[in-house]
Amino acid sequence: MRKEVLLDVIALNAGYGGKPVLQGVDFQVREGEIVAVIGRNGVGKSTLMKTLIGLLPTDRGSINLRGASIDLVSAHNRARKGIGYVPQGRDVFPRMTVLENLLVGESIAGKSTPGKVDEIYRYFPILKERADQRAGTMSGGQQQQLAIGRVLMGDPSMILLDEPSEGIQPNIVQDIARIMVELNRETGVTVVFVEQNVDMIRAMAQRCYVMDKGRIVAELDREMLQDRDTIRRYLSV
Ligand SMILES: Nc1ncnc2c1ncn2[C@@H]1O[C@H](COP(=O)(O)OP(=O)(O)OP(=O)(O)O)[C@@H](O)[C@H]1O
Ligand SMILES: [Mg+2]
Repeated sequence: MRKEVLLDVIALNAGYGGKPVLQGVDFQVREGEIVAVIGRNGVGKSTLMKTLIGLLPTDRGSINLRGASIDLVSAHNRARKGIGYVPQGRDVFPRMTVLENLLVGESIAGKSTPGKVDEIYRYFPILKERADQRAGTMSGGQQQQLAIGRVLMGDPSMILLDEPSEGIQPNIVQDIARIMVELNRETGVTVVFVEQNVDMIRAMAQRCYVMDKGRIVAELDREMLQDRDTIRRYLSV
């Protein structure tokens, strides 16, 4: 059975106070997919993520979640509708402990799910080990896992991840990719991630969109993703 379309982005235009960045972005993500958005520096990948979560307004076009437009829904309410967002650079609260960061995630989502912290600890055991440590003293890879864990506290149906591999050691990149694939398989959560790291793209993505100059210019299927050189070529379009 073909899964339902979860996210449908049509001719999306957005930018910063009159400076257009997204210039007609079209793509679709189905329920339960893991989809990558790749492309060179500055092509608009983070702008796309910020527009999807509602930190930037839609100038033209539309973003539809399960068939209904969310263009006029605030970022806060998009989170409540089940969209989780981990920004580029992750943004954990450095002076709070790991556990406190997780509990903030729960309050942002506006719901409390018993047993959630333990579920997150099962996927990210390092967070359990470091529960009482201040987040700012952890490595980049540990902070990335915390940022993902914090978003999972809200039990999202879709997670947007902006360059999760940035500044992280290669072996931890592989760990995070593996955990995300497990999470997807076991919970059905949909994942849309921005990435330029070939290893992370190959380890996580089922499908991939290539962005250039504010538009989607190509789509790579699972077979094309097998070939490192194909990915490298599209990363340098
Ligand atoms: N806050 C901002 N105000 C004005 N222009 C911005 C702002 N943030 C980004 N831009 C511009 O928008 C364009 C797209 O930036 P964006 O951050 O979306 O690219 P990106 O693909 O995520 O790049 P990277 O791979 O370096 O993260 C760039 O020209 C950038 O300079
Ligand atoms: Mg970016």
